[in-house]
Amino acid sequence: MLTRYAIILAAGKGTRMKSKLYKVLHPVCGKPMVQHVVDQISQLKIEKIVTITGHGAEEVKSTLGQQTEYVLQAEQLGTGHAVMQAKELLSNKSGTTLVVCGDTPLIKAETMEALFTHHEEKGASVTVLTAEADDPTGYGRIVRSESGLVEKIVEHKDSTDEEKLINEINTGTYCFDNQALFDALNHVTNENAQGEYYLPDVIEILKNQGKMVSAYKTPDFSETLGVNDRVALAEAEKIMKIRINEQQMRNGVTLIDPENTYIGADVEIGSDTVIYPGSVLTGKTTIGSDCEIGPNSEIKNCQIGDATVIRHSVAHDSQIGSHVNIGPFAHIRPLSTIHDKVKIGNFVEIKKAEFGEGSKASHLSYIGDAEVGKDVNIGCGSITVNYDGKNKYLTKIEDGVFIGCNSNLVAPVKVGKGAYVAAGSTITEDVPGEALALARARQINKENYVDKLDFNK
Ligand code: UD1
Ligand code: CA
Repeated sequence: MLTRYAIILAAGKGTRMKSKLYKVLHPVCGKPMVQHVVDQISQLKIEKIVTITGHGAEEVKSTLGQQTEYVLQAEQLGTGHAVMQAKELLSNKSGTTLVVCGDTPLIKAETMEALFTHHEEKGASVTVLTAEADDPTGYGRIVRSESGLVEKIVEHKDSTDEEKLINEINTGTYCFDNQALFDALNHVTNENAQGEYYLPDVIEILKNQGKMVSAYKTPDFSETLGVNDRVALAEAEKIMKIRINEQQMRNGVTLIDPENTYIGADVEIGSDTVIYPGSVLTGKTTIGSDCEIGPNSEIKNCQIGDATVIRHSVAHDSQIGSHVNIGPFAHIRPLSTIHDKVKIGNFVEIKKAEFGEGSKASHLSYIGDAEVGKDVNIGCGSITVNYDGKNKYLTKIEDGVFIGCNSNLVAPVKVGKGAYVAAGSTITEDVPGEALALARARQINKENYVDKLDFNK
């Protein structure tokens, strides 16, 4: 096997997206397009991956990190010009160079591997990955001779009416003999409809040099979809979603209604977990086995154990244990740690709080900036008063505490182990362990009061 290199084209602005966000950073199933491409390429044995950046260079770099090397294309003069920028890093190497566009998020590692194999077996100077498109509008067309050999690629904007009828398109993915690529790029001009240096022109140049030009047609057009506008972005999202959901189901996850289930590309789910419709699971979320999620739940960047139930709720950036019961209509805000067998019930909001094993906040509570021990019962309507208008303070509730309904715990405050807080209390001072705290006005009953009222006379 020859040494393999890869170049990812990611310098374009993506004018047709009409967006503040650079095109290749638009997410598909929660992951930037170019990240999808890099993740697939990273599965192949590649010596060096070079990403060509331009618009949004810093953002692209911080997204992809150390996975690739970078070269700046200061002015976007076309895809051929973009590849030329990698000259210093690659032109003295011998081997095979894969070129992929950063806006084809659906391309799979297997397909690129097949392209490499085809290219190397044929001993070609270039092999272009092609596909048959039902609607080839906008793509470069593969022009073949009568004998079927690839002659050249003509861009949509430069094509004749006859060439526009060709359905075989350039997917924008190629394998090149590295030396031949950089030699041929010197001969590419910008004499075309867009005034750009086109990478596909290298094909005709190599052919005219008598080198072997080959094409490898992939049966699956959808994999090669190039995202230039939001319509194609939605199309890519749809295809990626089907791919992810099928993979989850094959791994043993039940999706009651896959069409209405949205699972991010990096979400991991254990077997026998059931996901109900309207669930949106994103970011670095992991969910264990035997869980029930949804309907209508939004979970982002959470690590969830086994046999946990989350219904009609929102949870972000938190740790949630096993056998936990959340919802309906609960909100778990960032930096919360919810241990096993906890119950967070209807209309309960948790923020930056730890809940020990077996504790419950079953109804209508706000618990923020709090450490709650084990087997604590927080009565309906109780809240931590964590904010004085300027600073936030901690509430500590130790193991086995019982907080009566509708209590306010004014932080900083601590309720000691096993203590009771009477319903309706506003607790401003620490409560010792095993004590009963009553912090409310004593009830006065005025006998026969109604008789004394004027309007009864
Ligand atoms: C390109 C191909 C076309 C192919 C299609 C497949 C050319 C001239 N055309 O067209 O044959 O059918 O992809 O999707 O190559 N880029 C740079 N620097 C530049 C210009 C572009 O890095 O100066 C990057 C873009 O960020 C993008 C990729 O190259 O990721 C492709 O550019 P784009 O303008 O989208 O090319 P298409 O018109 O789609
Ligand atoms: Ca494109």
